Amino acid sequence: MKINRRQFLASLGALSTLGAPRLAAQMYSAYSLLRPPCLQGMRPDGVTIMWATLERGTGYIQYSEDGYGANFAEARSRIFLPQDTGLPYAYMQHEATLSELAPGMDYQYSVLAGGEPISDPGACSFRTAGRGPFNFVVFGDSGQGGAEQYALASRIASERASFVLHTGDLAYMHGTFEQYHSNYFRYYGGLMNSVPFFPTPGNHDYLTNNAAPYLALHSVPQDTVPFDDRGRYYSFDWGNAHFVSLDSNASLASAIEGTGPMLAWLEEDLRATRQFWRIVFFHHPPYAAGPNQSDEISSLVREAIVPILEKHGVQLVLNGHEHAYHRSRLIRNNTVVKPGEGTTYVTSGGGGAFLYPVFPHSLVEVSKPEHHYIRAEVRGTRLTLQTIGIDGTEVDSFTLAPPPVIANYGREPAVRFSPALEPGALVRIAGRGLATEERHASPGSALPTELAGTIVTLNGRPISLFYVSSHEIRGQVPFEVTGSVTLGVATPNGFVDTSLPGL
Ligand SMILES: [Fe+2]
Ligand SMILES: [Fe+2]
Repeated sequence: MKINRRQFLASLGALSTLGAPRLAAQMYSAYSLLRPPCLQGMRPDGVTIMWATLERGTGYIQYSEDGYGANFAEARSRIFLPQDTGLPYAYMQHEATLSELAPGMDYQYSVLAGGEPISDPGACSFRTAGRGPFNFVVFGDSGQGGAEQYALASRIASERASFVLHTGDLAYMHGTFEQYHSNYFRYYGGLMNSVPFFPTPGNHDYLTNNAAPYLALHSVPQDTVPFDDRGRYYSFDWGNAHFVSLDSNASLASAIEGTGPMLAWLEEDLRATRQFWRIVFFHHPPYAAGPNQSDEISSLVREAIVPILEKHGVQLVLNGHEHAYHRSRLIRNNTVVKPGEGTTYVTSGGGGAFLYPVFPHSLVEVSKPEHHYIRAEVRGTRLTLQTIGIDGTEVDSFTLAPPPVIANYGREPAVRFSPALEPGALVRIAGRGLATEERHASPGSALPTELAGTIVTLNGRPISLFYVSSHEIRGQVPFEVTGSVTLGVATPNGFVDTSLPGL
């Protein structure tokens, strides 16, 4: 809940009417952060911040663009008792949602208790999601303490990424509340106050009470997710990319049994997005050259999840579970295909836990049993992933730049004219990788022949465009077109054309 300074001060006054303002201030000055603030679910216009204290009381986030202004968000607070957590003490978890923020904007904030800041002065800041290039870090299977986890955590903190994706097995060995404190927040909590983490649950996170600690300690996007499954899977947008985190544990099992909605939700989620990049992450890899490939879950993933990803043109899948680094070839229907037509599967399970061996696999191009993380950068229609080892050297590097494809992935023809192929008609083109981002032509001005980096030609001449997105283009057939027709689409990644019956 967003409140202004007057309302905030009034709320402190309400405390004083309880009879002990001075005592209250002294009590609050003794507040301490059991868990530092962690950014959750960052979006263009908002973010959720979670923290924990040993003491009871109402918490607030004070935030502004310049560090001096005063907006306040009151937290919802929840007490965790020893019988809930297995910890020897009770604590309060606070969760404040900041809304009406500006996209791509820097903010500073403080955690308040009783009107006093209890977070490190000047240590807490964030930038909201926005348009344009961005970078993110990927790692998983991050270990149970030790030199490797610590070294990688230090390198990841120095990346200054827009956000971090964790591919699962966050807290070894059993995903307990104590292990989240000692093996997860202890290593990354200092980064989480300025860089949002987007997690996905691993099998070890499910070992305690059906992932109850994982669910309690996170606040992921949930708007479109069926109520009973909220927290287990979700999606979000950043720049011109759409990210989906799936639960390859209980939610996949119930979906395959016909009792859970995750796969139906995934179909609808991917069908609805208009983003160029479609990046999906979950714990169990369908294609990786390690000992877990014989897992029943990996085969269920190949049977139940992969066909949906292929149907909707997902270009990149990120997994964990295999404690090593693996990168597949471009795959579609279990075979190697050419650029623009397949999916790359990258397994990043070397975040600190003990390593697994790697084996030959016909669909896997690179396999290295090394501790690592991935530095990813999205620039329009190019996505570069650089894998960094524990000593800072490069383990692997590759770029995805899918060229445009004109194709019929639905029931309708790939190129459709309305009312028919004739001068001045409307043309709709279906395919993949057709435009850097969704864009409508500006109303009230002449229609452009280039929109979001995309140009469409008929017999070599650019046509006027109304609308472009990754999967659809709408334009107008020129009035001077006659004879046989060749339609072409050019993006920053390449050119494709198709011949059509003549006029
Ligand atoms: Fe693991
Ligand atoms: Fe695992």
